[in-house]
Amino acid sequence: MADIQRLDKVLANSGFGTRKEIKKLVKAGRVMVDGEIVKDSSMHVDPEKNEIMVEGEKLEYKKYIYLLMNKPAGVVSATWDNRYSTVVDLVPEEYKHFNVFPVGRLDRDTEGLLLLTNDGQLAHNLLSPKKHVPKTYYAIIDGRVTQEDAKVFKDGVTLDDGYTTLPAHLDIIRSGERSEIQLTIMEGKFHQVKRMFEAVGKKVKYLKRIKMGDLELEPDLKPGDCRELSGEEIDSLKKYT
Ligand code: URA
Repeated sequence: MADIQRLDKVLANSGFGTRKEIKKLVKAGRVMVDGEIVKDSSMHVDPEKNEIMVEGEKLEYKKYIYLLMNKPAGVVSATWDNRYSTVVDLVPEEYKHFNVFPVGRLDRDTEGLLLLTNDGQLAHNLLSPKKHVPKTYYAIIDGRVTQEDAKVFKDGVTLDDGYTTLPAHLDIIRSGERSEIQLTIMEGKFHQVKRMFEAVGKKVKYLKRIKMGDLELEPDLKPGDCRELSGEEIDSLKKYT
């Protein structure tokens, strides 16, 4: 499908500055479209088809960006907040012009894998309750987690608001007065993991998301850092659409 846009918009979305700065850049003859110098930044182009060169370099146009962040505790999964910093504040400068937003939410005190994108359609599909995207969490729990809890979670546990969760898979890594677990859930209700443990009389002390669909949080991605998804990873998410 043709994707006709104004040249200044394409260049602004590719990080070449404000429309005013771009107008100057174009006026100065530093931009070529299909081998010809252009002078009018309001001209229409198809960035997928027309070859755009800026100061001799070919523009690699990207409409969408997909970032995997290791969310640190203390920041909120939103684009704006009047009290706390947000995950969007942590997005590196080179990606700011894409105007990404988080796909779903992790609580302020939850860490780990968070997808950020400007692809509204993909985000919508991944968040749809009809699409059961598995999400795996690592957690430290106050209290002794048992096989009985695993069975309750497998059968679906009823939360404080009467909602019964879909079957979830609980792996007990260590059981003691403090336990360590991994839990895979197929939905994303508000505070779901914390409320599931509350339903069996236990408290989540630390929570980190480590997987979502086929995406995995690698141990060397530091809290607050992010990286672009590979083409294969993006395709793996599109299977939910
Ligand atoms: N479940 C929770 O309780 N909190 C999160 O941040 C994510 C899942």
